[in-house]
Amino acid sequence: MPIEFKNDIFHMYNDRISYCIQLSEFGDLLHLYWGKRLEPEIDYPIRYRTGFSAPENGNMNYSLDILPQEYPSYATSDLRSSALELEYPNGNILTHLTYKSHSIQKGKPIPGGLPGTYTENDDEACTLYIVTEDTYNQSEVTLVYTIYENRSVICRHSHIKNTSADSIFINNASSLSLDFHESNYKYMHLCGSWSREKHIEICDIHSGIQAIDSKRGASSHAENPFIALLSENACEDYGDVYGISLVYSGNFRISMEKEQYGTLRIQAGINPYNFKWKLESGDTFTTPEAVMIYSDSGLSGMSHTYHSLYRERLCRGIYRDKVRPILINSWEGSYFDFNENSLVSLAKKSSDLGIELFVLDDGWFRNRNDEHGQIGDWIVDSNKLPNGLDGLIEKINQLGLMFGLWFEPEVFSPKSEVFAKHPEWAIRLPETEGHLGRWQYLLDLSRTDVQEHLINTLSNILSKHNIEYVKWDMNRNFSDIYSSALPYDRQGELSHRYILGLYRILDTLTSKFPNILFEGCSGGGGRNDAGMLYYMPQNWASDNTDAVERLYIQYGASIVYPASTIGAHVSAVPNHQVGRVTPMKLRGSVAMSGMFGYELDITKLSDNECAEIKEQIQTYKRIREIITFGTQYRLLNPFENRSAGWMFVSKDKSKAVAFYFNKLAVPHSPYRRLKLKGLDENRIYTVDGKQYNGSTLMNYGLWLPCDERDFESCLWEINS
Ligand code: GLA
Repeated sequence: MPIEFKNDIFHMYNDRISYCIQLSEFGDLLHLYWGKRLEPEIDYPIRYRTGFSAPENGNMNYSLDILPQEYPSYATSDLRSSALELEYPNGNILTHLTYKSHSIQKGKPIPGGLPGTYTENDDEACTLYIVTEDTYNQSEVTLVYTIYENRSVICRHSHIKNTSADSIFINNASSLSLDFHESNYKYMHLCGSWSREKHIEICDIHSGIQAIDSKRGASSHAENPFIALLSENACEDYGDVYGISLVYSGNFRISMEKEQYGTLRIQAGINPYNFKWKLESGDTFTTPEAVMIYSDSGLSGMSHTYHSLYRERLCRGIYRDKVRPILINSWEGSYFDFNENSLVSLAKKSSDLGIELFVLDDGWFRNRNDEHGQIGDWIVDSNKLPNGLDGLIEKINQLGLMFGLWFEPEVFSPKSEVFAKHPEWAIRLPETEGHLGRWQYLLDLSRTDVQEHLINTLSNILSKHNIEYVKWDMNRNFSDIYSSALPYDRQGELSHRYILGLYRILDTLTSKFPNILFEGCSGGGGRNDAGMLYYMPQNWASDNTDAVERLYIQYGASIVYPASTIGAHVSAVPNHQVGRVTPMKLRGSVAMSGMFGYELDITKLSDNECAEIKEQIQTYKRIREIITFGTQYRLLNPFENRSAGWMFVSKDKSKAVAFYFNKLAVPHSPYRRLKLKGLDENRIYTVDGKQYNGSTLMNYGLWLPCDERDFESCLWEINS
């Protein structure tokens, strides 16, 4: 068993990592260590010190305000940020958790009603359950830690049980709390906005509290629920890196407190802002899962572990292990302006070029001719599609293409029939107009009747037609945060209940329709998080389809998320978001670095362009296995260079694909080489018809083009 309890120390370890917790003489769970594997027989007790803090039990050397803890709470004696904030009926918020019991079990649980990483057999992981109880009031908290046998991964979540006779409130319940003994780290996060998601920022940690968060009802375009701590000198391939990623799609916060003695407290979980959960006597609340990855080989080591874990043990369904069909999406090619004939012509051309899946985006339903149109009823527009969905699908299928359809199930517009019948289903204060976002209200997914309505409406459409792919969009954030179904003392539950409702709907639909490929989307990357990947194996990475902008977005995404989860399309030039004109070759190579597709009117392209597309499709069919299941190595960082590069290596290292992208020309720039990574140094590989040793490719590298033209790019297929 890779979890032991000896000499009052819990030691979770595998060949690569250790995580240690000390049970103090007073029953407190003190954080001892997380990092590279230690010997099982450890005896490195925490150093105690005094300070201007209240001691425990009269022991002047022992204060919870100073000691590193596993799941601290505020107001008894620790005055730093707390992982847990409970409020009891008389208004007291005092909680002091101490050890009650523990058990160690094979396998890994998934937090109830929430997404989580999983095992396929119990030998893959081992789980420690530590039950603690509150010595001030009546509650019981179980801390759950899983260590994977062959991955540098620890997963955490907790259960909070009300063991009192009255109801209590949870004002904050982190998924994890981590006290680092020192704070000489930088932190990396992925931030941005709509159309500029997942940009990398690396920041100093200063004294006091800093945090990244979302209060938008979704994980958001602005921040991704992830940070990495980088030790001094850590970089792409060297140094200690600690990753924390939340398997959650709603409001979140990851906070860092560098406190007075220079230690660092990290907490991650549901955002406590506007969160208040009423827990009835006997009930239990479960926090979302946090996935912690330690790497002693820099960011690349961390990313590789996230990639394989999320690809193999978070994504589910048949598409987890299947390459994805090359698609054409109707959106940027025709927006709302299409009819059956134009779609069939597009499909015909797509089929000629080798595309495999035709996706009809927004605009297929009644009175939906622009963004102001009706949404929420999901009744086909017979003006555009006189033969209904079936008439269209039949023609598409006859051309040898699969058919996929866009939905935005979580919203409805004031023009919809559903709204006329159920205005109370909108998230807003009754008797007020509330705010429309993209001319639509959010449906109150915390309500079971709304959940049932969506499950029934979608099941009905998906079971009646041959739909093999669904794009699940969500194009607005929260506003007017109020549910007419919740009593006043449960309004603080709305944001989390919304996400629980969404998860229930997705769980039901993806189980009912296991053969459908679901792709998540939220105005591009507004909900590109690990939580969504449990239900949908891929996410549309951004509404920005410009190839240069995508270098940043896809490079940033690769920090946590594998290419198998990143939707990427070739679109028209001038690009619709930024007006840039880039060559088809660059657009193709950037999109081929993810789950590949096209999103432009290919019926209007020249013969030469079509020939180029045909060739790209043939190339992708040869390399997609490597892109989808291989290991990705980042070679050139676009945030630091005028160019970008990355490569994918098959698991057995027999094949690889490398990409290089230049942003802007530099006249008479120096000759440069691109050193490859991850190959077998003793193997002979063929690149562009020439043979090289793996070590030559990794140490000498490949010559790059001179970059005397804007937007030059290379795609090398490397075979042994
Ligand atoms: C969002 C999506 C786009 C497209 C439109 C349709 O913006 O991100 O890809 O589906 O909605 O309205």
